[in-house]
Amino acid sequence: MTDQPAERPRLEPTRLTTRGYHVHVIDQTASTNHLVTEEAIKGAPEGLVVVAEHQTSGRGRLDRSWETPARAALTFSVLLRPTVAANRWPWLPLLAGLAVARALRATGVDADLKWPNDVLIGDGKVAGLLVERVETPVGPAAVVGIGLNVSTRTDELPVPGATSLLLAGVEADRTALLDRILWTLREEYDAWQAAPGDHALRAAYLERCATVPNHQVRVGLPDGSVIEGVATDIAEDGGLVVEGPAGPVTLHAGDVVHVRTGGI
Ligand code: BTN
Repeated sequence: MTDQPAERPRLEPTRLTTRGYHVHVIDQTASTNHLVTEEAIKGAPEGLVVVAEHQTSGRGRLDRSWETPARAALTFSVLLRPTVAANRWPWLPLLAGLAVARALRATGVDADLKWPNDVLIGDGKVAGLLVERVETPVGPAAVVGIGLNVSTRTDELPVPGATSLLLAGVEADRTALLDRILWTLREEYDAWQAAPGDHALRAAYLERCATVPNHQVRVGLPDGSVIEGVATDIAEDGGLVVEGPAGPVTLHAGDVVHVRTGGI
């Protein structure tokens, strides 16, 4: 006997074949980023992954919330302890978004990126990432939080402008997808740690990013102001270069709307 709807099965941790991760699948928590941050402060090693079957009070970028029904999404956080120089850390959120897009593409989904790391199918946001830096007694850590809408229905989506794999016509096995994302994240992360100044990451990101070159954008900045212009490039430090009314500016945080697609 089970009370699980057939279309939303539980994750099967024994099927995960992850390298160098310690994956904990839990039934419910408010926010996996919060939980992993607490563990990081207590000294947990790199590779801790907490996956919640139901995240009840998830956190999004720019102080937004991210709530999803039980077993409809993948909601998880990965603890990393990068050893690269501090000035390379801004690439980590972009790298993580790229890893999710790559994992989806490997399963036949046409996923792209909106700067910095929203994962899109067409104009819809299928996954959001919240990467947080945490100061811990054994040095700075990064908590990479990923929320991917899998079988989420329209009335259950966590944010306006979102979509899910199901709404895009894809029926996905959450366990296989989680495994693949952890693998692609491991690959991207290891390559970056080994050669943080390598141009390959920027080139791969540029190939996948729908924001550049030359998308008309409206960017809400953390101070509440808005800049409109044309997104022309990704800077060497991972910032978004926007040609605005006062000339080119490089942005390091913000909420991008792709204007001409009428998108999100
Ligand atoms: C965004 O606003 O686009 C980022 C959403 C990030 C949501 C994920 S779900 C797992 C992890 N835990 C959280 O509390 N947030 C992230």
